[in-house]
Amino acid sequence: MTDHILEVRDLHVTFGHGAKRFEAVRGVSFDVRRGETFGIVGESGSGKTTIGRTVIRVNPATSGSIRYEGEEITGRISKELDRKIINKIQMIFQDPMASLNERAKISYIVSEGLQGRGIPKQEIEQRVTAALNEVGLLPEFASRFPHEFSGGQRQRIGIARALVMQPEFIIADEPISALDVSIRAQVLNLLSELQKKRGLTYLFISHDLSVMRFICDRIAVIHLGRIVELCETEELFRHPLHPYTRALLSAVPVPSPDYARTAKPLSYDPSIHDYSTDKPAWTEIVPGHFVLGNNKELDGYRKQMEK
Ligand SMILES: Nc1ncnc2c1ncn2[C@@H]1O[C@H](COP(=O)(O)OP(=O)(O)O)[C@@H](O)[C@H]1O
Ligand SMILES: [Mg+2]
Repeated sequence: MTDHILEVRDLHVTFGHGAKRFEAVRGVSFDVRRGETFGIVGESGSGKTTIGRTVIRVNPATSGSIRYEGEEITGRISKELDRKIINKIQMIFQDPMASLNERAKISYIVSEGLQGRGIPKQEIEQRVTAALNEVGLLPEFASRFPHEFSGGQRQRIGIARALVMQPEFIIADEPISALDVSIRAQVLNLLSELQKKRGLTYLFISHDLSVMRFICDRIAVIHLGRIVELCETEELFRHPLHPYTRALLSAVPVPSPDYARTAKPLSYDPSIHDYSTDKPAWTEIVPGHFVLGNNKELDGYRKQMEK
């Protein structure tokens, strides 16, 4: 049996009330295996960040279930479990320019999650130094302020801030999207090294499939709050089934010049799905490959897979 560190079932997240009620996450289910990098890809506004924030309990789930190591973590939970989740699940944010408190020293920013727990000052300092070292920053940076650092260094500070908690599970929300193209690979490599060294599990959120292909073991494709397809990364690139996945893939630059010359990005028109009577269901088409479709569509996908 596969060891699932996180299990999400039929998760709904709604914002606002009455006429302003908006369902950002509309019945999402997936499992994350211990030690893997699980990707969620989709365009802006599709609900990716909301899923991440619901896992770390910043946003409440409207309905559905999230289990971490088998324990339900939505709704009211014990203080003990809450503290465990705060330690074990950490999030790295998209914009390192906006997410660091400008008026705090790096030592405080990195150690914030450790404060107020009766940990001796000296131990906190040691842990900050160790975390900075792990992300390739000098110990003397601890006494400086965020504005003294570049975007890439600031994202390293954000990563150190997560690592200092000794997490098992990291939600990396577009961690390189706001960075200069020239330093993106360095930050991705750092995340990969840390994963190996610490045995971390990643939930990696991005709108960029070419980055996902490089870093993810499995990928879930999300469109307007619904996961439409989920499978291993190479399987997704080889046998994309859902028309939205195919449209996303068609926009990914391909290394082969022959292909690039002929390929035109496809567009996705949700009105092609006729769900008026034949309703869509989340279905495992072949082992490990899930897709959202109604009976007619699923028949078509099965035929496609047989080819
Ligand atoms: N706190 C909030 N209040 C109201 N609407 C929100 C809130 N957070 C996110 N949303 C809306 O939910 C949708 C999904 O947002 P988000 O999860 O940030 O998408 P993504 O990360 O995929 O770009 C968007 O339409 C966004 O405007
Ligand atoms: Mg987002």
